[in-house]
Amino acid sequence: MLEDKNISSYSRSSNCFEKPHAQEDILEQKRTELEDMFTVSADMLKTITQDFIQSLKDGLEKKDQTVPMFPAFVFGWPTGKETGHYLSLDLGGTNLRVCLVDLKGDGKFDITQSKFRLTDEQKHQDGKDLFDFCAKCVKDFVNKHFGSSSSIKDPISLGFTFSYPMVQEKIDHGKLVRWTKGFDNPNTEGKDCAEMLRASLKRFDVPVHLTSIINDTTGTLIASNYVSSDSKIACIFGTGCNAAYMEHVSNIPKLKGFDIPEDTDMAINCEYGAFGSYGSPVLEPVRTKYDEYIDSHSNKPSEQMYEKMISGMYLGEIFRLILCDLVDDGVLFLGQNTYKIEKPFVFDTAFLSLIESDPTDELLTVMGLFSYFFNLDTEIKERLFFRRVAQLIGLRSARLSACGISAIALKMGYDKEGCHVGCDGSLYSKYPGFADRLHEALVDIIGEGGRKIHSRQAEDGSGAGSAVIAAMTKARKEAGHIAHR
Ligand code: BGC
Repeated sequence: MLEDKNISSYSRSSNCFEKPHAQEDILEQKRTELEDMFTVSADMLKTITQDFIQSLKDGLEKKDQTVPMFPAFVFGWPTGKETGHYLSLDLGGTNLRVCLVDLKGDGKFDITQSKFRLTDEQKHQDGKDLFDFCAKCVKDFVNKHFGSSSSIKDPISLGFTFSYPMVQEKIDHGKLVRWTKGFDNPNTEGKDCAEMLRASLKRFDVPVHLTSIINDTTGTLIASNYVSSDSKIACIFGTGCNAAYMEHVSNIPKLKGFDIPEDTDMAINCEYGAFGSYGSPVLEPVRTKYDEYIDSHSNKPSEQMYEKMISGMYLGEIFRLILCDLVDDGVLFLGQNTYKIEKPFVFDTAFLSLIESDPTDELLTVMGLFSYFFNLDTEIKERLFFRRVAQLIGLRSARLSACGISAIALKMGYDKEGCHVGCDGSLYSKYPGFADRLHEALVDIIGEGGRKIHSRQAEDGSGAGSAVIAAMTKARKEAGHIAHR
């Protein structure tokens, strides 16, 4: 399976017929090797974090840096009093959602939504077709909740949450820099995706007015702060990973010439999943041959290096590659047909959650999972081994995730004054122990100050956050404050 076999010392020359079961001593040896490979010490975390801080600063300083630090054109925090009805369209990594958000003020809101699972085909079709699909979904939603389009006199405000790296010059403009999370729709990179969506909405005669385009982290930052004003950083740990925070414009040298007062604050979409892309001396020592394999076989080699070690899209695949390696080496599933598990990306990260949280002594959930999805019989010693491997992958993800948060916190001095980090995404919400592991690593990196940085489940950034930003933008423009952006 993997070209480089240097961690596998077991040889196929062992007689399979005499050894129908996985050998305990070899599994033991493999476990030790994997523990060495996947353990990231406190010192390593600290070194990575220091380099991360420099990457954040570089991104604020100049354009086209590895961690791009995109200004999001959301100026300052919400008041918590924003009100009104807004539509939002959320194009994330896995689903497309259309939401109607009722902002009630006082940090409260209601959401009504429709959700569509994106197909693989949609992730690769022409960009125009993808945005046409989005427009059709918005139209159906509007028809359902507002009556037929023709009866609507004033266009309804629509915020677009587009969770991919995009460079912005104003709030309703966003040029896609590159696709991530396995998308590669042609004729989209380098284009203004707000404009592409506008064209699709027009083609389908949808009575909406696109007011803003935001990243999911920016939405999460604002939604979390709307509800509780001590939330200063937002992170997504889902299919992809990323963070946003609020920066002083005086600390963003690359904004010179944008005619924005220096005493303003601006949300920054860090796009820090790109940390370490195109090679990083600090990330390299913790990358394994499985990370290298995933990267070189991805549709975007050398990109999103940090994300590929952390996010939900890849953890299950890392686990699967380890298993396939051991199948190739004659250690696992001897005499069984392994074709089902040999298919790339067939091992969902949700399976790792299940493996880690199996409450039975015999690990019966794990047994059922392998039998049901992959037609494979397992022994208890193999299942214990699988659980350890899942722990190693999940723990490394959480510990590395702490580096990005620490970098922002240290840069902004939040280790001293303390803050909450609003987190969302399936890994954060559903992976057992992820938050505890993250908190431990924050202390490993920052020391006692790490205890002042506390993550918690965020509000729905892509829905509610988008609506709050629409309301803030409307108020800002009506007040004539930086109205040109
Ligand atoms: C994207 C980010 C996004 C993150 C979480 C990454 O792949 O580049 O824009 O915020 O995933 O959805």
